[in-house]
Amino acid sequence: MSESPKKFYLTTPIYYVNARPHIGHAYSTIAADVIARRHRLLGDDTFFLTGTDEHGQKVQRSAEKAGIPPQQFADQVSKTFSDLWARMGMTNDDYIRTTDERHKRGVQKLWKHLEERGAIYLSSYTGQYSVGEEMFIDGPPGTIGPDGKPTETVTEENYFFKLSEYQLPVINLIESGELHIQPETTRNEVLSFLRGNVAAELTQVYDREPPRLDAEDPQKIAENEGKVARSTAGHNYVPGALKDLSISRTTFNWGIPVPGNEKHVIYVWLDALANYMTAVGYGSDDPAEIAKFEKYWPADLHLVGKEITRFHCVYWPAFLLAAGLPLPKSVVANGWLLFEDSKMSKSRGNVVRTETILDAFGSLLPKPAPTTADTGVSPADIKNNTADEKNQPANERINKADNGISSGLQPTESTPTQTGALAPGISDEAWKRQQDLFASDVIRYFLLREIPFGQDGSFSFDALVQRYNSDLANGYGNLVSRTLNLIVQYCSSTYVYGRRSGAAIPPLRTIENAAYLQFSPQLRELAEATEQASERNLGAFEFGKALETIWNLVARTDAFISETAPWKLLKEISSAENTESYDQLTDQHGKALIRLEDILYTASESIRIITALLYPFLPNTTAKVWKQLGFETHIEQAARNGELKNLKWGGLKPGTKLGTLAPIFPRAPKELIQTMTDAESNNTPVPTPSKFIDEKTTHTSPITEDPTHPAAPPRAISPDAATPSVGGSHAITTERPDTPSHTEAPASGVFANAAAQSDIPDTPQIAIDDFVKIDLRVAQIVVAERIPKADKLLRLEVDLGYEKRQILSGIAEWYTPEDLLGRRIVIIANLAPRKMRGLESHGMLLAASHGENGKPVLATFGEDIALGSRLR
Ligand code: MSP
Repeated sequence: MSESPKKFYLTTPIYYVNARPHIGHAYSTIAADVIARRHRLLGDDTFFLTGTDEHGQKVQRSAEKAGIPPQQFADQVSKTFSDLWARMGMTNDDYIRTTDERHKRGVQKLWKHLEERGAIYLSSYTGQYSVGEEMFIDGPPGTIGPDGKPTETVTEENYFFKLSEYQLPVINLIESGELHIQPETTRNEVLSFLRGNVAAELTQVYDREPPRLDAEDPQKIAENEGKVARSTAGHNYVPGALKDLSISRTTFNWGIPVPGNEKHVIYVWLDALANYMTAVGYGSDDPAEIAKFEKYWPADLHLVGKEITRFHCVYWPAFLLAAGLPLPKSVVANGWLLFEDSKMSKSRGNVVRTETILDAFGSLLPKPAPTTADTGVSPADIKNNTADEKNQPANERINKADNGISSGLQPTESTPTQTGALAPGISDEAWKRQQDLFASDVIRYFLLREIPFGQDGSFSFDALVQRYNSDLANGYGNLVSRTLNLIVQYCSSTYVYGRRSGAAIPPLRTIENAAYLQFSPQLRELAEATEQASERNLGAFEFGKALETIWNLVARTDAFISETAPWKLLKEISSAENTESYDQLTDQHGKALIRLEDILYTASESIRIITALLYPFLPNTTAKVWKQLGFETHIEQAARNGELKNLKWGGLKPGTKLGTLAPIFPRAPKELIQTMTDAESNNTPVPTPSKFIDEKTTHTSPITEDPTHPAAPPRAISPDAATPSVGGSHAITTERPDTPSHTEAPASGVFANAAAQSDIPDTPQIAIDDFVKIDLRVAQIVVAERIPKADKLLRLEVDLGYEKRQILSGIAEWYTPEDLLGRRIVIIANLAPRKMRGLESHGMLLAASHGENGKPVLATFGEDIALGSRLR
C-alpha cells in the first residue's frame, strides 16, 4: 500500500481591502504560488490559501468616503484582488474573505474558546490609536503613527488578552526552532522584542509598538531591579516586557461582534489571523470541514511581509497556545519592494500596478491574423477561463475541467502547424488569457530573480525590461528555439534524436545506446548538480539563487552547442543522405551522424531538465516548451504525476515527435519601459491588449514574433504576383501600397527602395517593436545551385557564422549560381521554414525590386561585416 502524501499548507497574508492591489501584493502571492507548485510536484497534498482582510475602522472610513456601505466596498475591492490572481494564473486552493460567514463563525468560536480558558478579561484603557495601522501606539496625544498620520486619543472599555503570560512560552518556541522564522534578521528582531530588549533593536518594524499598559521602559526595569531571567535555551529576557493586548473595540462597528457583548467588535488582527484556520474548516460543524481542519491544520508556512512578523510570530502563537491549538511551523518574511527608494504603498502614492505590466508584456504576443488553416483549437480553449471562473478558487477551476489541464489554470495552447497560423481562430478572450499568463511568468521571474528573498529591493521598469531581454528572450527562450530548430533542420522536421529526414534506416537509436549517454558527461553532471542545488535553494526560499543555478545550466548548454558546432557535421552527413542502411555509411559519415544526434540529444535533454526545474517559476512558458519538446502530457499533469522531480538524465525518448515550434519570449523593445511609465504616471490603463492586438494585426506583416525562432506562417511576406518570389523564399520587394510592406521599416538602409515612382510608400506606420521582431542577419552564400525542373528557383546554402542553412530563392531568372557564390547578403533569419519541391527553405533573402518588371537587387554591404551580424 502506498503511503498517503504528506500535507503542506501555506498561506499569504490576507490583503487589506482599503487599497487596490499593487505589485508588492503580487510579490508575496507569487512567492507563495511558486512554493505551492513546488510542493505539488514533490507529491505533497498541498493547500494554498490567500484572501482579503475586510474589517476595521480603516475600511469603514474608506467606504464612507466612497459613499457606499462597507460590505459593498469590500466586495468591490476584494474582487480586484481575486480577479488579478486569476488573471495571473495563481493556483490558490481557496480565497478567504473575513466577511465570509464561515470566517465570522470561526472567529467567534475562537473568542469563546479563549474566554472559556480564561485568556480574556474586560478592562478599560486610554491610549493613542493609529487608525491606519489598527493599533495603539505609545506616546502623547497627536503622536504620529506608523502610517504617518496623527494618532487619536481613544478611551475604551476593552477586552484584553493575557499576552503577558505567553512571553516565555513564545520565546522558548522560537529559540527551540519549533516555530521557524526566516530570515535570521527577522527572527532576531522578534526575539529581541519578546525578550524586552527593545532599545537595542529599534528598527522600522519597531515603530509599531503594541499597547503598553506599563509605561516603564523594560530595560530600565531590568537595570533598576535586576529582573533578568533566562529562557530554557539560556538566553536573557526581561519578564514582564510583553504586555497584555487589547482585543476589542467599541468606537466603530465594522467588524465581528464579540459574542455576548455586541457593543464590541473583535480586534481586527485577532479576526484576521484566524483566517488561516477558518479557511480550512475551523468553526464549522460540517464533518467534511472538521476533517479538513484536522488534515491541514497547523499551517506549515505563513508567508508574510516583514512588517507584520510580530503579529504572526508573537500574537498568533500566543493566541493558539492560549486556545490549546496546534501552532504553525514556520513564518517566512519577504522584504519590501521599493519604488523610487521607498516602500510601495497607497498612502505614499508610489505604487506600480501589476495590471500595467501584464498589459504591456502581454502586448508582445499580438494575436496573429486568422487563416483558413485548420484552427487546431478546441472549444475548451475558447471558453477558457471565463470571467465567472476567474473568481473561483483555483482548486475549483482545476477540478472543473480536465484537472486544470485544458482549461482553468493553464491555457491550452493552440496547436499551430509549421505552415499554419500561430493561433488561427482562437478567440480574443482565449488569446488574452495567453497574453496574461505569459506576462505573469515575466513578472514572476523578474521579482524572484532580481531581489534576494527576505531583503528589500527596488523595482524599476528599466530593470524589468532589461532582465527580460537578457535572461528570458536571449537566454532560455533563445536556447530552446535554437536547439529545437536545429533538430528540425538537421535531423528531421518531425523527430527528435531520430534520423535525418527520409532515411529509412531502422532501428532508431535507443536510450540504452551508450552513445547518447556519453557524449557530454560534463553537461549531464552539471544538469544533475543543478537539480540538487536548485531544489536545495528553493526549499530554503532562496528563489534568486535557485534561478541563478538554473541559468548557469542554460548558459552552459548554449555554449555546448556553439562549441560542438553541429552545423559543421551536417556537411559531412549530407552526402550520405541516400544511403540505405547504416552498413553503407562510411565510418566518417556514421560518426558524424552519431555525433550530430548526440549533440542535439544532449542539448535537448538539458533543456528538459531546465524546463522541469523552471516549472514552479514559469508555469505557463514551461508548459509551452514541454509541448515543443514532444511531451504529450501537459506539464501541469506531469508535475502531478511526479515526472518533474528526481530528474534522471535520459528522460527524453529517442524518436519522440517534436511538438509544434512556436515563439517563447519575443524580445521586448525599449519603448515598453515608456509605455509602462506613462501608464503609471497618467494612472490610466495602457491600451488593453486587445486594442494593441487589433492595431498590430492590421498593420503588421505577420512575421514570426520570436526573432530567434522561425515559426510564423510563410505567408508572412506578400505573395504578390509582382514580387520575384517563389514559395516561401521570397525576395522582399517594395510592394503594392496596400500590402503590409517591409519597406516602411525605419531607415536602416536595408530596405532600399529602388525608387520606382509607383512605389511611393503610403503603407501604414508600424511601431519599432514590430520591426525588431524581424531577425535580419548578415549571411554569406556558400553553395548556389539550380534545382532540376524549377526554372525560377535556386537552392542556396548560406553561412551565418553561428550556423549554416538552406534557403530556396526565386531569383533564378535574374541571378546565376555563379553570380551569387561568396556574396554577403541579408536574410530574414526567423522566418518559418517552408517546403518547396521537397526541400525545406529556412529563411529569405532581402532584395529591392527594381524597374518595371521588378528585378530583385540583393541587399549587400559596402564595408566589411561579420557573418551573423544583426541588422537593427
Ligand atoms: N491585512 C494585513 C495582513 C493580515 S494577515 C493575517 C495587511 N495587509 S496589507 O494589504 O497591508 O499587506 C499585506 C502584505 O502585502 C504584506 O505583508 C506583504 O506581504 C505584501 N506587501 C504589501 N506591500 C508590499 C511591498 N511594497 N513590498 C513587498 N510586499 C508588500 O498587512
